Amino acid sequence: MNAIGILDSGLGGYTIFNALHRAYPDASFVFLADQANAPYGDKSRDEIRSIAINAIAWFETQGITEVVVACNTISAQVLPEIKPLFPTMTLTGIIELTAHQEAVLSAKSVAVIATTGTTRTQAYPITITAINPQSSVEGVALPQLVPLIEGLADRQAIEAYLEPLINPLKADVMVLACTHYPLVHETLQRYFNGTLVDSIDPIVSLFADRVLPQGECRVYTTKNPDYLKHQIEVLFQSSVEVALTSVPHANCFSQ
Ligand code: DGL
Repeated sequence: MNAIGILDSGLGGYTIFNALHRAYPDASFVFLADQANAPYGDKSRDEIRSIAINAIAWFETQGITEVVVACNTISAQVLPEIKPLFPTMTLTGIIELTAHQEAVLSAKSVAVIATTGTTRTQAYPITITAINPQSSVEGVALPQLVPLIEGLADRQAIEAYLEPLINPLKADVMVLACTHYPLVHETLQRYFNGTLVDSIDPIVSLFADRVLPQGECRVYTTKNPDYLKHQIEVLFQSSVEVALTSVPHANCFSQ
């Protein structure tokens, strides 16, 4: 199928799919929510490598040759190393897109909130200070936030988790370095007295001057389509068709 693929472990990728679909309503996007393997954030690098390879191979089997890897955890840990395994595909990671925004690069101090896997790599501090060496960048892992969001935790539970972790952060800018986090933007802003920056706008801008494949959009999950449909209804107030798929092990690439 001629479409742009979007890959994430779950609802984070839907924030990107939703924004792209709104910006380019006639374009064809296929979103894979790999919820059977979610959360990605606390998995080892080797697990993430094999999860990412299998998921990208799944897009290839659908005839999709361009994929936005809308997941910081994959982008930060393994994407550069697995790109050469897919020489006929265009795989776009999101670390540089997210970090190279004016608000981030001109800030004196930046807090980067992310999964444990992304924080461990130091990908954001390295990327930001390479361009702005004066900037002080602090990475903060929020290991429970993706499970809370995926579990449709209520506002009180999310506030109780975030308040003690976000309140002490003093920085000009906070980077939401996980695609799930825009779903709790308001709560983060309540506890953080600075500018919040996420991946949505730069990803949408990436396609601004492009001729995009036209056609229908599809949403797939590797776990429970009824539950993803319900999650989307609750968090996005929209009703979408969700199909079940499985992501077979891409044996040819295992090491
Ligand atoms: N939304 C993804 C990210 O940007 C993965 C979150 C997870 O599954 O832990 O890192």
